[in-house]
Amino acid sequence: MSVNWMPREATHGRGHTSEPRAASAQNGRLDGRDACQPKSERAYDRYDGLTRFFHWSFAAVIIYTSVAGYALAHIAGGAVHDFLSRLNMSIATVLIVLFPLRVVWKFVRVEPRALHGTPGWQRSLATGIHNLIYVTIFAVLASGFLMVPNGYSFFGLIEIHTPFPKGALTDKLFTVHRASCALLAGLVALHVLAVIKHQLIARNDVLRRML
Ligand code: HEM
Ligand code: HEM
Repeated sequence: MSVNWMPREATHGRGHTSEPRAASAQNGRLDGRDACQPKSERAYDRYDGLTRFFHWSFAAVIIYTSVAGYALAHIAGGAVHDFLSRLNMSIATVLIVLFPLRVVWKFVRVEPRALHGTPGWQRSLATGIHNLIYVTIFAVLASGFLMVPNGYSFFGLIEIHTPFPKGALTDKLFTVHRASCALLAGLVALHVLAVIKHQLIARNDVLRRML
């Protein structure tokens, strides 16, 4: 956890030249210079453990609920539909609890060193997309929760109350939910393509930052 309390300035100016790292990435392993680097030093290129936990748990839940959500749209109402719908809502509710914690952590954590060899405009674009992903996750979660009339059961354990009865407002919120889900799916696709491009074409080992 010492990573998080490293002064921001101290995380800069220890940069590597891009050549050894590029060579190491092409070999698919750390080069001599990286290998000689103390483990604690290499940690400044990586997101902290809590950020990685949030990232992968949100990614897993969002991917599952998106696939299940779109599948549900094609399953006629009945026992299977209702079971899957309740399961989906329960799993997504876990993110409603985790989301505020993730946002607070984003503001207090210390970012890893900038990805070396990427121009400023690309870093700004990545930051912009990441921020937009956060806002869209909020829209998906809020609209999903508010559009459900008469509450729902959380894994059959707790009855969760929602504020609005079925009507024009919940219908509108469903429209917001559909639109924000589509936007989120698009942003995630863009994000994953960018990661693949950095990992396989620019070969700057971006994935290691989040593993
Ligand atoms: C629903 C799916 C996903 C969402 C919502 C998501 C969201 C994000 C966000 C918001 C960040 C910025 C760091 C943060 O604040 O947490 C990030 C970084 C990152 N994500 Fe994802 N992500 C998703 C899936 C994936 C997948 C499938 C991969 C791997 C192929 C991936 C690889 C990365 C990497 C490597 C970074 C660090 C990028 C950098 O250092 O600039 N993400 N992601
Ligand atoms: C991770 C966040 C979420 C994602 C990615 C997600 C995704 C989706 C998708 C893709 C659909 C299908 C939309 C369409 O037909 O065009 C959907 C429908 C639906 N979502 Fe969400 N959702 C999320 C959160 C929530 C939450 C928190 C709730 C309520 C507690 C919820 C309740 C519903 C309901 C009731 C439907 C209609 C289909 C059904 O009967 O289940 N969703 N969701």
